[in-house]
Amino acid sequence: MERLVEIEKFDGEEIAENSLRPSAWSEYIGQEQIKKNLGVFIEASKKRGEALDHVLFYGPPGLGKTTLALIIANEMQANIKVTAAPMIEKSGDLAAILTNLQEGDILFIDEIHRLSPAVEEILYSSMEDFRIDIIIGSGPAAQTVKIDLPRFTLVGATTRAGMLSNPLRDRFGMNFRMQFYSPEELAKIISQASGKLNKNIAHEACLEIAKRSRGTPRIALRLLRRVRDFADVANESSIMHARTQYALDELGINAHGFDTMDIRLLHILAGANGRAIGLSTIAAALSEDEGTVEDVLEPYLIANGYLERTAKGRKATDATYQALNITPPKSDNGALF
Ligand SMILES: Nc1ncnc2c1ncn2[C@@H]1O[C@H](COP(=O)(O)OP(=O)(O)OP(=O)(O)O)[C@@H](O)[C@H]1O
Ligand SMILES: [Mg+2]
Repeated sequence: MERLVEIEKFDGEEIAENSLRPSAWSEYIGQEQIKKNLGVFIEASKKRGEALDHVLFYGPPGLGKTTLALIIANEMQANIKVTAAPMIEKSGDLAAILTNLQEGDILFIDEIHRLSPAVEEILYSSMEDFRIDIIIGSGPAAQTVKIDLPRFTLVGATTRAGMLSNPLRDRFGMNFRMQFYSPEELAKIISQASGKLNKNIAHEACLEIAKRSRGTPRIALRLLRRVRDFADVANESSIMHARTQYALDELGINAHGFDTMDIRLLHILAGANGRAIGLSTIAAALSEDEGTVEDVLEPYLIANGYLERTAKGRKATDATYQALNITPPKSDNGALF
């Protein structure tokens, strides 16, 4: 079953997301440091009439990386070509994309950590020299042809910065880590989106959805759409606090934004009586793969202190026991054992 608080996009959710996507800075809430810095770099490069330096965004899904790439293009008044690493299988695929770019264009590559080493190598040399070497023919008759590229800006996005090779990472002039959003910021995003959906919403209702959205705009907007369904069915012209609480409870999302998967994970941690548990054990117990546990389930829990990563594995924290309403083991340093 699809988790409502899943941070990855659902299939077919694109249309709903695109209609709510901010296209200008004024609608892009939060990530203040990123906005400030990027704003300066964009203005500077516009003043000089140069292409913007290459930009990398990294952080968990649903925090607004794609949206930022589109806003950059909008601000630079540049064309943007959107693609994702899994779509660039061979060096020739990348060469075709690069040679079709125009001066000042933006190339957005999502999931950039998934490029194959061969493609990655061509990419980082083109980022630096704006030139690629293409081999034509094979065997002794093979020839290398150098092709000059226009000055373009690469915007890369990844949920796993650690998986980029150093040479690729080093070629980005700017490197931004996305932060989880505060409930107040999410409430603003929700209120703004409700306006676009032509539905009134009470401030407390915005905050209620915000608190249960695990710091992630994608989840906040998804919950908003679901809560709106409840209000529409009840013939309510505005989304009110009580209906919101009712709807979210019905949807199985508790006050911390946890769903059954998180709760199972937290119970596994709490059940270890103060000891650390390895990632593989947790993944097996949840029937999930390790990557999903690490990239999708854990970041929010860690950022909010519900899970601690140690050298020996994952551990429950005081907040874990509180959230589950169970008494922590007597000694918090595991001295019971
Ligand atoms: N700062 C923000 N202000 C307003 N809306 C936002 C903001 N950040 C994200 N959103 C909205 O949240 C949704 C998800 O954002 P986006 O697609 O940019 O995330 P992402 O980081 O690219 O996710 P993924 O890693 O899955 O590609 C979009 O509908 C977008 O409009
Ligand atoms: Mg994206």
